[in-house]
Amino acid sequence: MQTFKLFTGLTGAVLLATNALSANGASAQEPVEISISCGAVGVELELCQEGADAWAEKTGNTVSLVSTPNSTTERLALYQQLLSAGAKDIDVFQIDIIWPGILGSHFIDLAPYSGGVEDKHFEAIVSTNTIDGELKAMPWFTDAGVLYYRKDLLEQYGHDVPETWAQLTDIARDIKEQERAAGNDGFWGFVFQGRAYEGLTTNALEWLDAYGAGTIVDADGEVTVNNPQAVEALTMVSGWVGDIAPEGVLNYAEEEARGVFQSGNAAFMRNWPYAWSLGNSEDSPIKGKIGVAALPKGGENGQHTGTLGGWNLAVSRYSEHPEEAADLAMYLSSQAEQRRRAIKGAYNPTINALYSDDEVLAANPFFGELHSTFVNAVARPSEVVGRSYNRVSNAFWNATHSVLSGAVGADEALEGLEGSLNRIKRGGW
Ligand code: GLC
Repeated sequence: MQTFKLFTGLTGAVLLATNALSANGASAQEPVEISISCGAVGVELELCQEGADAWAEKTGNTVSLVSTPNSTTERLALYQQLLSAGAKDIDVFQIDIIWPGILGSHFIDLAPYSGGVEDKHFEAIVSTNTIDGELKAMPWFTDAGVLYYRKDLLEQYGHDVPETWAQLTDIARDIKEQERAAGNDGFWGFVFQGRAYEGLTTNALEWLDAYGAGTIVDADGEVTVNNPQAVEALTMVSGWVGDIAPEGVLNYAEEEARGVFQSGNAAFMRNWPYAWSLGNSEDSPIKGKIGVAALPKGGENGQHTGTLGGWNLAVSRYSEHPEEAADLAMYLSSQAEQRRRAIKGAYNPTINALYSDDEVLAANPFFGELHSTFVNAVARPSEVVGRSYNRVSNAFWNATHSVLSGAVGADEALEGLEGSLNRIKRGGW
């Protein structure tokens, strides 16, 4: 079983205040301790801690944070172990947008606690989180893949922001060669998430969708992944490793890609919005030199796209304090908290009103410029395949990984993948 770390979510001062409250009889109920699992990618844990502390101070309860693995694939395995054992260790779970179908049965319906506030959130996200009429999680932040580029280097070498993947490949190669000729030996053209895990599924779906190749499995549950546009997309990426991208990209998740880009060693990066605030932090070598654009189109007839990601807050059925746990989930997903997290950490709100908030837009100009990327992001087929999603995604990321690494060609990989997905389908989505 995975190890996970426990953090105590309250300072001594707040504990004292809590005791004083109960001693005065000012607190209606006995304070309880709620534990919440938070991600720890970039500044996630810090932001979660601050939000949880504020709730604790407001309510007199205490909160402990459980930090979980950065890889969403490893996090799912940990959650499945805990939940299938009915563990009471975690009350509030931070869950990926692709998991309601897999984990939903372990969570309570939050509608009785929400007061209808979910109506202010993006409808598509609320609907993904609703299973059999029950609101299994409150939207917390949304994500879409975007293209980061070095403004200074594009200007220095006379390039525009690439519109197509073919242009990106050429520009990335040119800048890499010129930087290397200037003595920058460790410089690369493009970094992304190429490890065999869920992150590669999100990147590869963007390659496919950019070429109009569909979404692996369509809305009717048909396996559509083996098509000529998908062959074109994967053929395009098959030459990247060792040319514009380092060998290491085959094992990169989000933070490894950000590490290379933020240290100034890549011209382009595919990542989620959180990398913006970190790339522009005081100690970042590329502060002020970063641009953000929609990911390239497949070709002239292709489309700009980004995979829909994001995280939501669910309350375990095994929690001993569901009411307080639901209150914490509601507090953290509130408009005020989402605004704070957007300004401080570039986490995309799930509440449309915040996309016209001056301070949010000043901190993240691309939230406005790329608004349509965020609202039209392409969803992975998690709703249609439900419980089978992780197996479907696993087959897809393995197939795309084998093309990236040069082990097999695009045609062969897609044909094999089609067979594997149809076998999973025969067992029932
Ligand atoms: C981000 C997304 C999430 C996705 C993951 C893949 O955390 O928000 O939806 O599954 O990346 O690595």
